[in-house]
Formats: sequence, C-alpha cells, structure tokens
Amino acid sequence: MNIKSAKFIKGVIGTNDILEDGTPQVVFVGRSNVGKSSVINSLVNQKNLARTSSTPGRTQQINVFLINKAFYLIDLPGYGFAKAPQEVREQIQKMLNWYLFVSNYNFKKIVLIIDAKIGPTNDDIDMLHSLEETNKEIVIVANKIDKIKKAEYEKQLQKIKYAFNMHRVIPYSAEKKVGVGELVEELI
Ligand code: GTP
Ligand code: MG
Repeated sequence: MNIKSAKFIKGVIGTNDILEDGTPQVVFVGRSNVGKSSVINSLVNQKNLARTSSTPGRTQQINVFLINKAFYLIDLPGYGFAKAPQEVREQIQKMLNWYLFVSNYNFKKIVLIIDAKIGPTNDDIDMLHSLEETNKEIVIVANKIDKIKKAEYEKQLQKIKYAFNMHRVIPYSAEKKVGVGELVEELI
C-alpha cells in the first residue's frame, strides 16, 4: 500500500467537530524538535505539508491531515520545550494531556518519535509509560539516524531498542528518507 493523497485539513486548539467525525486518527507525538513535522513530510513525500522549523516549538496546534481519504494523521506540538514562555508551555501541555489521555478519541495508532542521536530521554520514557496506559498500539520512530556516527550506530540502536523493548522501533531519517516504507506499512 501507498500514500496516495495527503491534505491539510485544519489546525485545532481543543475539541473540534472534525476530531469527532469517526475518522481513525494516527497520532504523532514526541519531544519538541525531534522532527515530527519532518517525518510527516517525508512520509507523504511533500516538502512543506507540515510546517517545520529549527526553532523548537514550531507546532503549537493539533494539526490534522487527511491521508488517502481514509484516516487522519495528527501532528502534535512537542512536549518538553523549555524556551517558550511558561504560559504557552502550560497551555500546550494541557492540550496534549487532554488530547492524548482524556479525549478518548478513536486512535488507530500512536507513533512516538524520538531523536535517535540523543537516544531515549526521561521525558520520552515518561511519555511512553503514559501512552502504554491507553492500551493503543504504539510504534517508535527513531528519527535523525543520519546524525549518528557509523561506528556508534549499532550500539545506539541497541540502546534504543532496549529502552522500548515491547514495541517496534523503526530507525528513520526524515532528511535522508530512510525507513519511510516501513513506517507507511505500519500506518496503512
Ligand atoms: P516541534 O513542532 O517544535 O515540536 O518540532 P518537530 O518535532 O515537528 O520538528 P521539525 O520537524 O520541525 O524538525 C526540527 C528540526 O530537526 C528541523 O531543523 C529539521 O530540519 C531537523 N530534522 C528533522 N528530521 C531530521 C532528520 O532526519 N535528520 C536531521 N539531520 N535533521 C532532521
Ligand atoms: Mg512540528
């Protein structure tokens, strides 16, 4: 299967009719700046469908994309972003908590994206544990593998796989388009 169409539908800040229309939602979650929006662009093979930035905190809404006219792909703001004003951070945190853990929406799958070079952080592991309680299927995307030195690659991947041992880990590079096929297969 392939991604045949991808369309930006809307950025929402809280509850919204389109999130409640019964369309399954595939959720992309991860720390700020790990490359959630970039992974989405690489998946759909478009440069700027989701807005990216080298400044953490780019995505501040729940961005909804319709894929193959069949499911929503949800680009969330990142967590653990320390540079934004406290008020903005709290608001984003509240929205994430509500969406992920309170809304009870129809999640088809949760994609937890981490920075492969940095490896699993405490925030990533805390998020994993919270997500596990939702009993939804979780897949881990270890993005930015292009930044890992060749000599360190195997060891770093082992470390990541060990930290997320109950879940599938897909080594990925949005920049070099590595892992795209594997992730598409997981989602469709
Ligand atoms: P927020 O919306 O702020 O939470 O960030 P995000 O997780 O959506 O990250 P975004 O896609 O905006 O990317 C953040 C930065 O990482 C950008 O400068 C990207 O170019 C860079 N980046 C994303 N994916 C990769 C990758 O696979 N390799 C490398 N080297 N850089 C990447
Ligand atoms: Mg983003």
